[in-house]
Amino acid sequence: MKIGIDKIGFYTPHMYVETEDLAVARNIEPGKFTIGIGQERIAVPPITQDAVSLAANAALEILTDEDKEAIDYVIFATESGIDHSKAASIYIHQLLGLNRNTRSIEVKQACYSATAGIQMARGHIALNPESKALILGADISRYGLQTSGEVTQGAGAVAIVVSADPKIMTVESPSVYQTEDVMDFWRPLYSDTAFVQGKYSVDKYIGFFQELFAEYTKKTSVGLSDLEAILFHLPYTKMGLKALKSVLEDANEADKERLLANFDTSKKYNATVGNIYTGSLYLSLLSLLEGNTNIDPGARVGLFSYGSGAVGEFFTGVLQPNYREHLYKEQHEQMLANRTALTVAEYEAQFNDTLPVAVENIDLPTDKDPATICFAGIKDHMRQYVRKDQ
Ligand code: CAA
Repeated sequence: MKIGIDKIGFYTPHMYVETEDLAVARNIEPGKFTIGIGQERIAVPPITQDAVSLAANAALEILTDEDKEAIDYVIFATESGIDHSKAASIYIHQLLGLNRNTRSIEVKQACYSATAGIQMARGHIALNPESKALILGADISRYGLQTSGEVTQGAGAVAIVVSADPKIMTVESPSVYQTEDVMDFWRPLYSDTAFVQGKYSVDKYIGFFQELFAEYTKKTSVGLSDLEAILFHLPYTKMGLKALKSVLEDANEADKERLLANFDTSKKYNATVGNIYTGSLYLSLLSLLEGNTNIDPGARVGLFSYGSGAVGEFFTGVLQPNYREHLYKEQHEQMLANRTALTVAEYEAQFNDTLPVAVENIDLPTDKDPATICFAGIKDHMRQYVRKDQ
C-alpha cells in the first residue's frame, strides 16, 4: 500500500526582521548572516501566537470536511509546548472541529519529532487504510538577544495529512535512523530560550547525516544519482548546504549540479522564515515543490531529519502524479510577501513581550494579529484561543 503526504499546509507569523539590519545592530558584517549563515529574514511571532495557534493556522488552509471526518489521529510535534500534561493536539482538535473519535497526542524529540509523527502515522494508516492522520509541527525558535544563535531564530508551523494513496508524496521503506546521547542543544524546563553548543551541534548534524546516508545507500543501493534532491532539516540554510557538500566530493558533475540547484530552491522559504525547528524539513520540502516547477512526478527525493540530543533519520519519498495541483503555492507566496518588516528595536520589543511564567488571568488583544486563530490570553490558568472566522 502506498502511504505518505496527502496534503501540506504552512503558516508563519506576519512580522519579520531583516538579518542585514540585525547584523548592523549587532556590529557584525552583514555577509556573515546573509551568506555565512544563509538567512535573509527571521520570522517574529507576536505574543498572540504560540505553538498551538501557529499549527492551527497551518492546518486551517488544507482541511476539507471530508478530511476532518477521516482524520482519527492527531500527532502534535513540538518543543515549544504550552503544558506539561495536556497535549497541544487537543486544543487543535477543538479549534478545527475534528471528529470526536480521534486519538490525540503530543510528541517531542527536538527538531526530529514531526518525522517521528509521520512514521507513527504510516503505521496507523497501514492498519487502518481508510483513516487519515494529521501531523502538526510547530515551534518558536528562541536563543536570546545578542547571542550567536539569535540570527537562527524563527517561528512557524507545518500541517501534514498522512493517508493511503497520498496526493503529494509517498514515503518509502526502509528508512534508517539512529540515536546518540549528546548535549548539542537543549532547553531546561526553567528556560524559555535554548541552550546550545553551536559548533558541536554543527559537527553532530553533519556526522549524523554522513553516517545515515552511507547506511541508507548500503542498505538500499539508492545513491546520489537516484535522487532528484536531498532535503534537510534547516536550522539555518548554510547548515544543509554544508552537509550536502560533504557527500558531493566524489559525485559526478550532473549529480552535483542537480542536487546543488535543487538545494538552492529547497532553502528559499527557510531563508526568509528562519528555524521553525521540527517543521523545518517539511518547509524545505514545500519550498522545493512550490519553487521548482520542473520536477516530474515519479521523482525520488531524500529527506534528512535531525533533532538535537540527538536522533536522526534518512528516508526517501516519491512525488505523485499531479502533485502540483495539491499545493498552496500562491497562498504561501502571498503570506510571505504580505508580512511586515520590523526595525531591530521593534523586534527586540516583541521578543521581550512574553507572559510571566505563572499568570492566572490575562487578556491579550488579538486585533493587531491578522491570523485567523490567535492565543487570546489566560483565564483561571487555562489558555484561551479565538477563531476569528467563526
Ligand atoms: N561574509 C560571508 N561569510 C562570513 C562572513 C562574512 N563577512 N563572516 C563570517 N562568515 C561565515 C563563517 O566563515 C562561517 O562559515 P562556515 O560555517 O562555512 O565556516 C559562518 O559565517 C558562520 O560563522 P561562525 O561559525 O563564526 O558563526 P557563529 O560562531 O557566530 O555561530 C552557529 C554559528 C554556531 C551556527 C550559531 O548561529 C548557533 O549556535 N546556532 C544555533 C545552533 C544551530 O542552529 N545548530 C545547527 C545544528 S543543530 C540543529 O540542527 C538542531 C536545531 O535546529 C537547533
